[in-house]
Amino acid sequence: MLIKTRLGRTVEVAEDYTVDQEWEHFTAEEHDRWDRLYARQCKMLPGRACDEFMDGLTKLSLSDSGIPNFIELSDRLEKLTGWRVVAVPDLVPDDVFFDHLANRRFPAGNFIRPEEQLDYLQEPDVFHDVFGHVPMLAHPVFADYMEAYGQGGQRAGGRGVLKNLARLYWYTVEFGLIKTRDGMRIYGAGIVSSKSESIFSLDSDCPHRIHFDLERLMRTDYRIDDFQQTYWVIDSFDELLKATYQDFGPLYDRLEGDVTAYTPDTVLDNDTVHSHGTQLYANAGGRL
Ligand code: PHE
Ligand code: FE
Repeated sequence: MLIKTRLGRTVEVAEDYTVDQEWEHFTAEEHDRWDRLYARQCKMLPGRACDEFMDGLTKLSLSDSGIPNFIELSDRLEKLTGWRVVAVPDLVPDDVFFDHLANRRFPAGNFIRPEEQLDYLQEPDVFHDVFGHVPMLAHPVFADYMEAYGQGGQRAGGRGVLKNLARLYWYTVEFGLIKTRDGMRIYGAGIVSSKSESIFSLDSDCPHRIHFDLERLMRTDYRIDDFQQTYWVIDSFDELLKATYQDFGPLYDRLEGDVTAYTPDTVLDNDTVHSHGTQLYANAGGRL
């Protein structure tokens, strides 16, 4: 079928919204852009990204030059955790996304950000999707969590709680922090693929860093247009898997129909706070 992407392209996609990556069509300039983004992040990430992420980069040979060919990348990833990477031209509808995850397929953008938007763009491109997400998929526990998330999404459909489930994805898969013996580290894809947020999320005294609490986090709004005002911290990926390895039914009963959400800068008395932020950055208007 034909769809129109948010970047204004009209594209023929399969039923599951996938396309051929058309890897041969990337220009030398685009491969070079990947290399520059890659080098820039890799300079920052030692001591910032968690070991599991760094291991994933190595195991998947993501340091090879150029935009990865999804077939070759998938062949390596599948041997490790059974996941594959498929190409999509844009964000896909929720049910399609859940179906991909539930079947251990990660949909990744088939385009790279333009040169003028090297630092920030809202559409997930191949750098965010592959550099940000795929290394964690090489980690067995995280790989299981992502599949469970897809299955959970399929079960949640029709219950009016997709917004709550999206918050879980956002605050863990995209913007999660993990407290290790060596200190606070990043595992969220939205952070590791961004130069400025890699620094802000760990070093700034503006955002709150609060310990992961499933229900509390599912009741909290997030921002899509700027740095997060709160990062949620886990102690281990086992903690994340354990917290979500339960029937969400009773939780959904409590959440359903509850339209009031906490603002992204809320701190409650019951929260386990790792650092209470000043919120100066957001209160001064953020990047605007
Ligand atoms: N346990 C959840 C359910 O019962 C599924 C889920 C797992 C959701 C992991 C998100 C993350 O629906
Ligand atoms: Fe993402």
